[in-house]
Amino acid sequence: MTKVTVSDLTAFKQQRKKITMITAYDAPSARFADAAGIDAILVGDSAAMTVFGYDQTTAITLEEMLLLARAAKRGTTRALLVADMPFGSVQVSDAATVENARRFVNEAGVDAVKIEGAGTMARRIGAVIDAGIPVVGHIGLTPQSADRLGGYKPQGRTADAAAQLLEDAGTLERAGCVAIVLEAMPQPVAAAITQSLTIPTIGIGAGVECDGQVLVWHDVLGLSVKVPKFVKQYADLGSEIVNALRAYIDDVQSGRFPEPTNTYAMSEEERARFEKARQDLSATKP
Ligand code: KIV
Repeated sequence: MTKVTVSDLTAFKQQRKKITMITAYDAPSARFADAAGIDAILVGDSAAMTVFGYDQTTAITLEEMLLLARAAKRGTTRALLVADMPFGSVQVSDAATVENARRFVNEAGVDAVKIEGAGTMARRIGAVIDAGIPVVGHIGLTPQSADRLGGYKPQGRTADAAAQLLEDAGTLERAGCVAIVLEAMPQPVAAAITQSLTIPTIGIGAGVECDGQVLVWHDVLGLSVKVPKFVKQYADLGSEIVNALRAYIDDVQSGRFPEPTNTYAMSEEERARFEKARQDLSATKP
């Protein structure tokens, strides 16, 4: 089991090996993803919704993201570990962004950070890369800017908007990104971007022609309340969990749990001594 590195991402593209990525926000999920053979784990700021119950990604803080990234790191052996730089951690200055990215590497042990946006953000991304920290770009529907983009809507649906995305992708490649997430855009646009780059694209709602795919853990496993149309759900763990908990409640209420196998034994001799001690104790009580 060789560890996946950032340079493997481009090698996978050259070999036409599709890259698989999934979000994970804690050690057990990362361990499951790793055991399944996933190439990359993303500690996404989608955790704002999936883990913390906020209604938008901008609510999650740097400290919360670092906590989740550290947990995911403990469950990761082989997969490349990428963490999202949350809203607020990349908005202030190049120096503050580099320092925040450095915390993800030094304190959480991630292999790369993901930063949303291009345009004015490209220079800032360049500063992080210049500091020796690999960056995954993210264009299209960038949830941290959802308000400015008119909500959680697909992007690049007009020729002008599509051309802008193509240009943004080129800018991010030139800035030194190791891969780019393409979120919620028409398949021909993602395909054109993918063909134009030497670094891989990882799509989410961007069609089959991307070099890889990423999905959110809770969406894939049936743990989300509502999922976008581009999600394919591979299990219904939400129902399994509710059924399992109902069975537990039932067993406790009916006395079927715990069974003798779930309890600790005591030798007959110690039990007799304990009984005697108990009697002695109650005899001394007024
Ligand atoms: O935060 C996240 O989970 C993401 C993916 C949707 C790519 O950015």
